[in-house]
Amino acid sequence: MERSAAMICARFIGIGLLAGILSGCTGLQSPLAPAGAQAGSLFSLLQLMTWVCGIMYALVLVFLGWSIVRVMRHTGGDDAPTVDPADRGLNRSMLAWGALIVIGLTVLASASFLVDRHLGSLRGEEVLRVRVTGHQWWWRIAYQDAATGRWIETANELHLPAGRTARIELGSSDVIHSFWVPNVAGKLDVIPGRANSIDLTPHRIGWFRGQCAEFCGAQHAHMAFDVKIESPAEFARWLSVQARPATPPENPVLVRGAAIVAQGACAMCHAVRGTAATGRPGPDLTHVGSRRSIAAGTLTMSRGALQGWIANPRALKPGTTMPTVPLDGADADAVAAYLESLK
Ligand code: CUA
Repeated sequence: MERSAAMICARFIGIGLLAGILSGCTGLQSPLAPAGAQAGSLFSLLQLMTWVCGIMYALVLVFLGWSIVRVMRHTGGDDAPTVDPADRGLNRSMLAWGALIVIGLTVLASASFLVDRHLGSLRGEEVLRVRVTGHQWWWRIAYQDAATGRWIETANELHLPAGRTARIELGSSDVIHSFWVPNVAGKLDVIPGRANSIDLTPHRIGWFRGQCAEFCGAQHAHMAFDVKIESPAEFARWLSVQARPATPPENPVLVRGAAIVAQGACAMCHAVRGTAATGRPGPDLTHVGSRRSIAAGTLTMSRGALQGWIANPRALKPGTTMPTVPLDGADADAVAAYLESLK
């Protein structure tokens, strides 16, 4: 029994290590492949800590091995080594060890302090404001339109311009979550009733993955979000598209889908700007078809995934508040086609 438990533990640790190494290699969700100023500073600190602790560990092992060999050589003989309090060599080496430990800890504590100061100095004034709200289990994301001051809402996909600092203002609608984009910055708790904010200064263009980093219920693992770091021009283009109301349906199937979404159960929880759907509890769907995934990183975006998700969300994500909406085959097709067309 104990052996099988140990084997299961070993297997999980193995899988965890493998997943860690693979994610580190692909760099999609890894603090070991920094794509932002904050993550870069934290990675330097991690490297220093690994070196200092690694060297200390290696030294301890070398001296431990050496002393074991010494004892074994003398085992059984009359000349077994004894500890003499007046042994000057021993006292000197104890002093050297003590000094080494103090120096090592001082280096680590100072580096940690300096990195913390540096992270503080990165908090600029000219920032892009982004509101991120954690829900069980998805992320509401809103950008402030610089021209109108209006908030433009989306969900589960964070776009950031490279080279500019974004201040993420965090809020929660239910329990404690934690906002984390490992490639760009450290993590910060998202606490109900408390306004926390974290700055992200990305510099490497590409797709990354963010993840809730605080256990928040059954679907905590399915509370991810896609992160796109893009050029400022590309970001401005994306934001101007997001600010627009939904694309009007262009053919009879899409018209049928739009009518079902705006007049049926969907509209009670979801908003599609420019239509009669103005629900607030669920994600804004105005440009849902432009997103890379649905259900907070659970499924890759496609018409089939949309249809499967609507047909039985609780089978794909047990515990989700999204109910099953009973639709016949043709209506389900039309709704999925309409949502996919909302680019
Ligand atoms: Cu939200 Cu874990």
